[in-house]
Amino acid sequence: MAEAVKVAVRVRPFNSREKARNAKLIIGMNGNTTTIQDPEQPNEEPRKFTFDFSYWSHDSYKEAADGYLTPTHPKYADQKMLFDDLGKGILENAWTGYNCSLFAYGQTGSGKSYSIVGYGPNKGVVPIFCEEIFVGIDKKKGEGVKIEFEVTFSMLEIYNEQVRDLLNPASNKKGGLKVRQHPKKGFYVEGLQTIPVNSYKEIENRMDEGTRNRTVAATNMNATSSRAHTIVGITFTQKFKNDAGAETAKSAIVNLVDLAGSERAESTGATGDRLKEGAAINQSLSSLGNCIAALADKAQGKNVRVPFRDSVLTKLLKNALGGNSKTIMIAALSPADINYDETLSTLRYADRAKQIKTQAVVNEDPTEKLIRELQEENEKLKKLMASGGKVSLNDLAADEDQAEMSEEEKEALRKELEAEMQATLEENQKEMELMRQSWEEKLREAQQAAAQQDQAELAKKNEKKTTPHLYNLNVDPQLSGMITHLLKPGTYKIGNNKADPPADIVLSGLNIQKSHAIITTEGENYFIERSALDAKLLVNGEPVSGKEKLDHHDRVMFGSNHLYVFVHPKQAQASPNAYPKVVTYEMAQEEIAQNSGFDMSTDKKSNEDLLLQEDLVDMLPAVEEANAISEELDKKVKFEIVVISPKARGMTSGRTEVCVKMRNLDNGLEYIWPRDKFFRRKYMMQEMYQNYQEGEDWQLPDEKDPFTEPADLEVQIGSCNVYLQSLAYLIDLKESMEITDYKGKELGILEVEAVPCNAKGKEITEADDVFVEDPKELVGGHVSFNIKIHAARGLPNKYTDVCCKYSVYLDTDPTVTKVVGGTSNPEFKHKKNFSFNPATSQLVDYLANGVLMVQVWGKQKAAGEKKGKKMTTKEMMMSRALAQGSGIAGNAGEKTVDVNKTFYVFQIATLKKRQERLEMKIGQFKKMVETAEKSNKARIHTHIVQQVLQAQHPKIAEAAIKKIPKDDGAGDLSVQLAFTLSRSSSMSSVSSLSSSSSSSSSSSDSDPASPMTEETKKTKKKQGRKRRSRKDGEGPPKSAACTIM
Ligand SMILES: Nc1ncnc2c1ncn2[C@@H]1O[C@H](COP(=O)(O)OP(=O)(O)OP(=O)(O)O)[C@@H](O)[C@H]1O
Ligand SMILES: [Mg+2]
Repeated sequence: MAEAVKVAVRVRPFNSREKARNAKLIIGMNGNTTTIQDPEQPNEEPRKFTFDFSYWSHDSYKEAADGYLTPTHPKYADQKMLFDDLGKGILENAWTGYNCSLFAYGQTGSGKSYSIVGYGPNKGVVPIFCEEIFVGIDKKKGEGVKIEFEVTFSMLEIYNEQVRDLLNPASNKKGGLKVRQHPKKGFYVEGLQTIPVNSYKEIENRMDEGTRNRTVAATNMNATSSRAHTIVGITFTQKFKNDAGAETAKSAIVNLVDLAGSERAESTGATGDRLKEGAAINQSLSSLGNCIAALADKAQGKNVRVPFRDSVLTKLLKNALGGNSKTIMIAALSPADINYDETLSTLRYADRAKQIKTQAVVNEDPTEKLIRELQEENEKLKKLMASGGKVSLNDLAADEDQAEMSEEEKEALRKELEAEMQATLEENQKEMELMRQSWEEKLREAQQAAAQQDQAELAKKNEKKTTPHLYNLNVDPQLSGMITHLLKPGTYKIGNNKADPPADIVLSGLNIQKSHAIITTEGENYFIERSALDAKLLVNGEPVSGKEKLDHHDRVMFGSNHLYVFVHPKQAQASPNAYPKVVTYEMAQEEIAQNSGFDMSTDKKSNEDLLLQEDLVDMLPAVEEANAISEELDKKVKFEIVVISPKARGMTSGRTEVCVKMRNLDNGLEYIWPRDKFFRRKYMMQEMYQNYQEGEDWQLPDEKDPFTEPADLEVQIGSCNVYLQSLAYLIDLKESMEITDYKGKELGILEVEAVPCNAKGKEITEADDVFVEDPKELVGGHVSFNIKIHAARGLPNKYTDVCCKYSVYLDTDPTVTKVVGGTSNPEFKHKKNFSFNPATSQLVDYLANGVLMVQVWGKQKAAGEKKGKKMTTKEMMMSRALAQGSGIAGNAGEKTVDVNKTFYVFQIATLKKRQERLEMKIGQFKKMVETAEKSNKARIHTHIVQQVLQAQHPKIAEAAIKKIPKDDGAGDLSVQLAFTLSRSSSMSSVSSLSSSSSSSSSSSDSDPASPMTEETKKTKKKQGRKRRSRKDGEGPPKSAACTIM
């Protein structure tokens, strides 16, 4: 019967970094409902998802003496709960003879491995499952049942679309092991070792061996382990005589899959990299997503093709996802606000997965029948192949939906299937032989093969307690501590595999020299030194130049990525408090970053700074690695870390980001790559390097080469900020602005103007003397202004084809000036009008407080080829480093130009003009008082005062003053003022720029200062209506008086 995939979600605790920067919890769980809150929209309802299980492992636990995390509140889901809910079911199903699959999905560091494999005493599903299966077997055996139990174990890794056998690294040839399709079994890995095991201990040993092999491969190849998928395969077979007395086998294949970390949500697009298509960071993972989406569609009755064949992973998980298997998925969630996007995408992924249906059947057959079937099938295959005829696709790939395949695809599939037939023949043959071989025999062979290795490992484990040694640190905590080099008193040469005589400790990979370093002992003391001048060796983050003493828990970095911790048990015992208690990969990387010139202290740092620091720690080793690959492949490219503020990136908001500057050492061209683009490119570099190492054809054409950028790529030269505040006061502004690059370095001057306009788009000049006292007055009116970019001056020579880009207010597409080439002083002669009617308060706020960022873009001119001896990348990097005295720390520590300076320039200009106007206003007040005095008036009506106060033009004020009644003996107050001046209608051409907040106004068409424009007519009409309704309702506005002395 079809059954839906069971889906569980689990949220982990905050890690130390998240705690350090006070991360916010955005996940909630209640029953089987999981919620996620968008940290940017704290008032919005959180999104809700429901799953079969929701596991809260975020808090409410404590660490027991043995290190096990136990609940302090029933809501906490510990490893036992997970196993009881999920693992036990798998166990029961395996006993019944169902195939089972369990896979964990989630972003890097979200806790996939914790649930699947576990850490130390916090064992995950895999080890408990393996333990339990033998507990069950022993129990049955104790009961005296007549069943033979056979368990085999396999462990493989998919990295970069290649399958590697983790239990038999010697078999791992170029391109990895082949994935084949068997007509019955489905996809399988050709030649993968399945090792017979007879106890949990044996499985544990094999699993350790597999993880060790994974660590060695990952470190040597500099592979990012979190890009690898690990699949542990356990087959469990029970052999017995069935009721009819026939030898029968009931078997289950259990696949436990620890998937690679899912990509950052935004990294799949938007980086604008021309190479993005060819470079899915993880083909297998994106294919898995596509298959799950297609299967979910299928479950809803849509007729879609499921692209299982698109990747190695989806081939191997085909049964788990759509076939004969009972399947469980665990979605691992990070609790922190910073991971919101990724976590939401994980939840959506999980939500789709729960719609998928599989159909498991009990795999139970008489052995005879199985052998007979294998024989028959082989006969059939042999006949087909002998006939020389084409294989019919329908025969072998009936389950493939061929409707959407092109002829070429069909032909390719046919070829693949023919190769597979041959492989199937051999596989069947092997299986028949194995079936005939007794289990005891197979087990004995396997145990013999492993015995020596297991003993050596056991001895090492014991010796570690008392002998000084080095153990490895890896970014994936699963792989830390997996490699140990014991250092008994003596001399240890460290070098790559080309060293002759061979090194005592062989490391390979980037930046490891033949003869790299040497460790010596003097009594109880250990020393380390380089054995080649250009060998890269760091102790506690600092370069080693002479002979340096090693102390307990010192961190040693060989080359670019072999990071070790030195352990000296005696020292540790003698003075336990003298050395760091625990050493983590992050700590070690942080001190390296610190020594490369980055400020890594956490004191009084803002959240943003801490995030920045985290990014730096992530990026630094990656940039080192990219440089090492460039050196090795002689790519003439150098990478540097640069810290770029949002302003420098051409954005008015956002956070400061760590980017990478790529410099072509040959022609001097420079490009800034955002983080995602850099990582994507770096994966391609790694692939290139891998091909190079494997002796394959590794060079790529320029357009596919991750080390190149097209020479004519448009780059951002710099930018400058234009503060729009003056426009909010209807003041025009003309400035020569500094164009600064991402470092804040001045590159030239940009002549910019921002001029307010009247409703007709005519510029308001100083002569017009029109202004507002408070920007708020502009709300509701018609706001219009011109942005003018006249020219840039003194741009560096290396740029040509320059233009400016800017976006006003809510513009999504930037305004672009014309492109000017061949000069350092391009004249843009650009002018554009922006008009808003009616102006909203947001717009006015934008003008009063906002910034217009003008970006200057252009193309780079390549420097001419250098004459003289051609230098290698390594030599060029060294000479550059000598000249600059810097490594890869780019602009870190460099002081940028005070960005506030520009702001003050504008502020002062605006203030100056406002000051002038205020002085003028005081003058008008003086005049008003003088006029009143001349007419013997001791009091002036507030309307007049108000009009003088609010007048946006001197003429309006003058007209108001004229309304002060002449000395007609009518005393000083009983003047019945016929207000003919309307502030709004007499405002001349700028009426539309002002708000009409004045409480009383009347219009005067005949007012000399108010020529009627179309705009004012409209305004007047509106106001006329307004006034009428006022009259009807409340009567005329009340007038009040005040005394002005
Ligand atoms: N439920 C949990 N309780 C306590 N600690 C946890 C839990 N889940 C994860 N962690 C810790 O978080 C860290 C990252 O977890 P883990 O290694 O399982 O991540 P991952 O998803 O496998 O990452 P990657 O994709 O890099 O392999 C580990 O140090 C682990 O101990
Ligand atoms: Mg993991």
